[in-house]
Amino acid sequence: MNTVFLNGAFLPLEEAKVPVLDRGFIFGDGVYEVVPVYSKVPFRLDEHLARLERSLAAVGIGNPYTREQWRGYIAALVARQPFEDQAVYFQVTRGVAKRDHAFPKHAQPTVFMMSNPLVPPPAAQVESGAAAITARDNRWLRCDIKSISLIGNVLLRQLSAEADAVETILFREGKLTEASSSNVFVVKDGTIQSPPKNELILPGITYDVVVELARANGLPLEFRDIAEAEVRAADEIWVTSSSKEVLAVVRLDAQAVGDGRPGPLFRQMYRLYQDFKRKVMRAGRRESVSV
Ligand code: PDD
Repeated sequence: MNTVFLNGAFLPLEEAKVPVLDRGFIFGDGVYEVVPVYSKVPFRLDEHLARLERSLAAVGIGNPYTREQWRGYIAALVARQPFEDQAVYFQVTRGVAKRDHAFPKHAQPTVFMMSNPLVPPPAAQVESGAAAITARDNRWLRCDIKSISLIGNVLLRQLSAEADAVETILFREGKLTEASSSNVFVVKDGTIQSPPKNELILPGITYDVVVELARANGLPLEFRDIAEAEVRAADEIWVTSSSKEVLAVVRLDAQAVGDGRPGPLFRQMYRLYQDFKRKVMRAGRRESVSV
């Protein structure tokens, strides 16, 4: 039976219950994180905890635990799962209170964590690439906060699910932002490009790893606004996230991207990413790209 964590206690999933007046349930009033775990070693945990701290601060929810406590609880949750590679999900809501939009005065944040098997894209998909569609980015203007209010992302992702595609790539006012649950890179004439980090995209931890690997290996890299037409004319398109890692998009709205196969820079980055993961696993906590 899957063991989960709720407000300081480890218990079977079936026994984890939250009151219906929890503001996470009523308002989607909370933030979350997803951390990939390889061979029971969390990948870039400090970076995920730093992003959680930023999300909590941005929405005015007090952080219920110190970094040390978070690390300890996450390690204990990971140790309790029978599988090696995991996706640890954790969320903090503003807590339980009588329904009122304004913040309650005395609510205690609710903390829930679970860990599921981490399932990276199948080898055949990495080899052949995936399909994506596009849509207008109609989410709110604070996409840098990892909010549990995901209705916008959910509706956008459903569009690609119905089109048998892995992602929905988003444009706001004609410019690339990100995808429904991943960041986006494009390659044109040998240069890797991505939108700069701002309030319109989630600052992805995988995005950072890709950027560091590109820099460490001398691959040309540019952060700038990317017009929709440039995305459609790109040689390569990649999506990145903790669960997708780096995945090539080879069809966009049923049009071939480049020659319709994962490109050379994707292959290089994919290899670098896998090598880096293995190095991290061997090295335990040492996680900088230069080691
Ligand atoms: N999604 N952009 C959005 C909107 C996301 O939801 C995610 C992650 C990312 C990539 O972030 P990272 O590299 O830190 O995983 C970008 C997670 C995995 C999820 O919601 O399940």
